[in-house]
Amino acid sequence: MADIANASERAAAGHRQPAVDATRASAQQRWAAAPDRASAQPLLEVEDLRVDFSTYAGVVHAVRGASFSLAAGGSLAIVGESGCGKSVTAKAVMGLVKEPGQIEAGSRILFDGEDTSGFDAKRWQRYHGSDAAIVFQEALSALDPTMRVGKQIAEPIWVHEKVSKKEALARAIELLREVGIPEPEKRARQFPHELSGGMRQRAMIASAIACEPRLLVCDEPTTALDVSIQDQILEMIRRIRDERGTAVIMITHDMGVVADIAQDIAVMYAGLVVERGRTADVFERPRHPYTAALLAAMPEMGSASGGRLRSIPGAPPDLINPPKGCPFAARCAHAMPVCAAYRPAWTDFGDGHEAACWLHDPRAPQEAATIQEGEVHGDGDNA
Ligand SMILES: Nc1ncnc2c1ncn2[C@@H]1O[C@H](COP(=O)(O)OP(=O)(O)O)[C@@H](O)[C@H]1O
Ligand code: SF4
Ligand SMILES: [Mg+2]
Repeated sequence: MADIANASERAAAGHRQPAVDATRASAQQRWAAAPDRASAQPLLEVEDLRVDFSTYAGVVHAVRGASFSLAAGGSLAIVGESGCGKSVTAKAVMGLVKEPGQIEAGSRILFDGEDTSGFDAKRWQRYHGSDAAIVFQEALSALDPTMRVGKQIAEPIWVHEKVSKKEALARAIELLREVGIPEPEKRARQFPHELSGGMRQRAMIASAIACEPRLLVCDEPTTALDVSIQDQILEMIRRIRDERGTAVIMITHDMGVVADIAQDIAVMYAGLVVERGRTADVFERPRHPYTAALLAAMPEMGSASGGRLRSIPGAPPDLINPPKGCPFAARCAHAMPVCAAYRPAWTDFGDGHEAACWLHDPRAPQEAATIQEGEVHGDGDNA
C-alpha cells in the first residue's frame, strides 16, 4: 500500500499552467461546500457497460467497460474526445440504443436500484416520462418541426400526469418562462424553426424537465451555440439541478464546462472510463496521463490563441480492433511494455478518486510515474 501511495504522490507532481490552475481553483471553491454524497444511495449505477455495433466493416466496440455512479441530486460530467463513447453511454442510460447497437450481457444499469434490463415497454414509458430525460446537442433534430413549441412541451405533461390539455399548456408556458424565454405565450405558438438556436435549446430543456425527471442527461447541449449563450444555458442547467434537485449528467469534450457544472467526473477514452472522482480532486491531481493531457489542452484565458482548445497530438485507436492493453499507450509519454500487453488495473486514491493506469502499480519504475501535463507523443496510430 505504501508503494501505491508513493506512486500516487509521484504521479501528482506535475507542473501546471496558470489558466488551468485558475479553473481548478474555481472548481474547487465551487464544490468545496458540496454535501458529502459518499453515503447517499446512488440514483444511477452503471457497471461494466459494454455496447457493440455490428457494421459492414466489423463490430464497433463503442463502449468497452464504463462504470460510474451518480447520487440523487448530484452532477456528473462524462468527458472525452469525439468518438470515445459518450453519446452511446448516454443512450444506453436512456434505453435508446437501437439496432445495430447492442448492450452486451453482463452490463448493468441500475436506476434507483432497479435493473433497467428488466424494464418492459410500459416501464420504459414511465422511465422516459418521469424518471429520466435527455437533451441533445441538436435541438432542431430533437424537436418535431411540425408541432408548435408549446404543444410539444405540453404533450408529455397531459400524457403522463393526466391533467387537462389547457392546464398542460399553461404549465408549458410557465416552463418556457422558467428557462428564460421572453414572451413565452408568443413563443409557445411558434414552430421550432422560428426560434433562434439558443431559444430552441431552452425549449428542448423545458420539454425535458416538463415531467420533473429525477435525472437529466445533457449530451453536449451547448456545443453548437455561441459562447455567451453557452454560459446562459449552463447557468440554467445548474439552476435546475439546485432548485429542483434534479441529478444531471453533463456530457462534454470541454473541461471548462466540467469545472462549471459537475461535482463528479468520469473521463472516457476509447470506450473505457479511465479516471473518475470528484471534479475538484481530479482537476487538482489528475492520476491518468490522458486526463492530464485534457487539462493541459484547455484554452488559456487571455491567451494569443484566443481561448481555442489545443488539440492532443495523435488520434484515438480504432474501435473495431481496439488494443488489448491500455488504449492510450500509443499517445502516452509514460507508456511501458506492460501497457500495450495488459489492460491497466484500477488504483483507488480515496474519496471515490480512481484511475486505470499502470503508473500507479507499485512495481512501476519511480521515475516513470511523474505525470507532466500535456505529455503525449507519437502519431497515435494504435492499429
Ligand atoms: N449507429 C452506429 N453504428 C455504428 N457505429 C456507431 C453508431 N453509433 C456510434 N457508433 C460508434 O461508436 C463510437 C462512439 O460513438 P459516440 O458515443 O457517438 O462518441 P462520442 O464520444 O463522440 O459521443 C464511435 O466510434 C462511433 O462511430
Ligand atoms: S497504463 Fe501506461 S500507456 Fe496507459 S496511461 Fe498509464 S502509463 Fe500511459
Ligand atoms: Mg456524442
